[in-house]
Amino acid sequence: MIFCIRIKLRMNIHHVLFFCFLSALQDGNTGLVNAINLYAGAEGGNGSVSCHLTSSGSTKFFCKGECKEEGILIKTDGVTAQSGRYNIRYKDGSSGRRNVTVTFTQLIKSDSGRYRCGLGGSSVPDSYRDFDVIITDAATLDENTRFSRAGTVGGSVTGGCLNTVYGSRKFFCKDECKQEGDILVETEENRAQNGRYSIEYREGSVHGLYVTITQLKKSDTGRYRCGYGRASSPNSSYTFQIIVVDGEFYI
Ligand SMILES: *[C@@H]1O[C@H](CO)[C@@H](O)[C@H](O)[C@H]1NC(C)=O
Ligand SMILES: *[C@@H]1O[C@H](CO)[C@@H](O)[C@H](O)[C@H]1NC(C)=O
Ligand SMILES: *[C@@H]1O[C@H](CO)[C@@H](O)[C@H](O)[C@H]1NC(C)=O
Repeated sequence: MIFCIRIKLRMNIHHVLFFCFLSALQDGNTGLVNAINLYAGAEGGNGSVSCHLTSSGSTKFFCKGECKEEGILIKTDGVTAQSGRYNIRYKDGSSGRRNVTVTFTQLIKSDSGRYRCGLGGSSVPDSYRDFDVIITDAATLDENTRFSRAGTVGGSVTGGCLNTVYGSRKFFCKDECKQEGDILVETEENRAQNGRYSIEYREGSVHGLYVTITQLKKSDTGRYRCGYGRASSPNSSYTFQIIVVDGEFYI
């Protein structure tokens, strides 16, 4: 059983902290798995998140928390805007989706938290996406000059196979697909699963192809590749990093 205490601190912005305690009878499966769309960045690095939104409004938002007055980092009617270490960039997307990309530069530890990118009327976004950010030590900057997809131990992570060109055969690999054991899923179907790993083609979605790992373990941290064609000789692929963090790391 998990006991949670919610503490609300009033600082320059609201922080809601959850402290959770596992009962002594529990089997040691610790970790909060309530992070949403988690991204990890290294201290000193940069990070961007693209949000594909459907509002017809013209005001773009980049906020810490829920776009309440004090949490608004950038609010603009322009195509691009910059405020300190924060940037927002707008692009018309395909099939009615509109692309709001928000960027952090020179990440610092206190950037960890929940953010919202949005589009809408002048006061509040009517279409938005929330995401969480955690900042790891500067020592990890080498492999991590931009955001990586991240998940918490015991949770799951789903990522799109960006900028890939459709083909009927699909694959999902650990590392570079060079060894037989690297291939996690290879299929001609639109959906396939192999234990904790799955791949799904979602017709009409932003990225088309998506991969998921469930019941995350620390050892899942690493590089992955997904795309179309044969895993051993891809026609089109996307390589990305997944970082798995302890749930307690997340506030
Ligand atoms: C972060 O972005 C800035 C501005 O675009 C760039 O000068 C800097 O080299 C980037 N830092 C890293 C670690 O990539
Ligand atoms: C959204 O915009 C960003 C930055 O301009 C770009 O890197 C990304 O590919 C765009 N996403 C799509 C699906 O076009
Ligand atoms: C890879 O691309 C080639 C040429 O575009 C195409 O003929 C072939 O069917 C593709 N292979 C797969 C497995 O999708």
